Amino acid sequence: MSLELSERLKQMAPSATMAMAAKAKELKAQGRSIISFTAGEPNFNTPDAAKKFAVKAMNENQTHYTVTAGAIELRQAIAGYYARHFDLKYDAAKEIITGTGAKQLLYEAMGCLVNPGDEVILFAPAWVSYYEQIKLFGGVPVIIDTESDNYIPSPDKLEQAVNNKTKIIILNNPNNPTGAVYPHDVLEKIARIAVKHNLIIINDEIYERLIYGVNYLPHVLKLVPDARDLILNINGVSKSYAMTGWRLGYALGCEKIIKGLNSLQGHLTSNTSSITQWAAVGALTEPEVELEVENMRVEFGKRRDLAVKLLNEIPGLKFTEPSGAFYIFIDISNFLNKKLANGKIYKDDAAFCNDILDEKGLGLVPGSAFLSSNHVRISYSCSEDDIIEGMKRLKEFLA
Ligand SMILES: Cc1ncc(COP(=O)(O)O)c(C=O)c1O
Repeated sequence: MSLELSERLKQMAPSATMAMAAKAKELKAQGRSIISFTAGEPNFNTPDAAKKFAVKAMNENQTHYTVTAGAIELRQAIAGYYARHFDLKYDAAKEIITGTGAKQLLYEAMGCLVNPGDEVILFAPAWVSYYEQIKLFGGVPVIIDTESDNYIPSPDKLEQAVNNKTKIIILNNPNNPTGAVYPHDVLEKIARIAVKHNLIIINDEIYERLIYGVNYLPHVLKLVPDARDLILNINGVSKSYAMTGWRLGYALGCEKIIKGLNSLQGHLTSNTSSITQWAAVGALTEPEVELEVENMRVEFGKRRDLAVKLLNEIPGLKFTEPSGAFYIFIDISNFLNKKLANGKIYKDDAAFCNDILDEKGLGLVPGSAFLSSNHVRISYSCSEDDIIEGMKRLKEFLA
């Protein structure tokens, strides 16, 4: 019997970040000394308040299905956060849905909004899953490269790319993989272009708390309130609250889109885990958690400074200093197509990442996974000791 997978699946590239992180974990399990700069997750523990709420939920038998969008108490906690933090009002009952990580809500957003042939504008380098998610629904990713603009999207290039097939603009600010934080005037211009052409903005703000130099980012909707019905905010507890494994993301937007997400999710997973939902209520409402989130941000800022300092000590590497998230995107073109210390020549970033993991036990993610070849992404969400050791291994490999 011959077994055929769907054409849809055959055209999909697996997630390179997941693949590299899995390979690093596998080598570590075999007893190798591995430093992994692959993970997109904080090495901190989930705040105690979140854990306490989860235990209480279990003890009180909050262990049944909730409505698909999530318990109303959780949606109220999210509305409270957006009101407190961004001064934005969302109706907990109609304009908020929670799901199994921001990733699921992004997938649902594409499913609800993209018709075959619709163009979706992406600023590259871009997070690994957008491109594949757009294609899964027959959409056409239109890529605007930001490398020559210091990784800040150019509103002029955006305006030029818009045509009558354009439906969506994806914004990811602060950005994975570049760590760029977009200036206010750029955000405002992008939102005005969306309003002018009636385009939806999927605003992935999962790293909004992880910014350095300043501790607050104004929301794009405070800059262009007219865009309210066109902006779908995607957020979650994974990164800011060190809760990646719990799988809780949320989307906030106009009632029509949220209803669409709800219909699709009703056939996918229904609600995310009820225990997780209550843990997130704890994270979003208990006052002491705010301080923990701030402490993590300060700690990430120190790690960023350390990683930048050590990278600057390696001649030939090029990168733009990041202002947010916990990534640095490094141009390795000076080291491709020439003999390195191990006597080998690498033609591309994927081969480079493969060998540095095998030979030096250092996990990096190839830039091509983010639609930008000749680069590697490092995540500095690990300990300072790991950053120091990892940079030493990188330096040796590049010698
Ligand atoms: C830009 C971006 N969006 C969304 C996600 C998904 O986050 P979650 O863990 O909530 O699914 C990630 C995780 O790496 C990310 O980097």
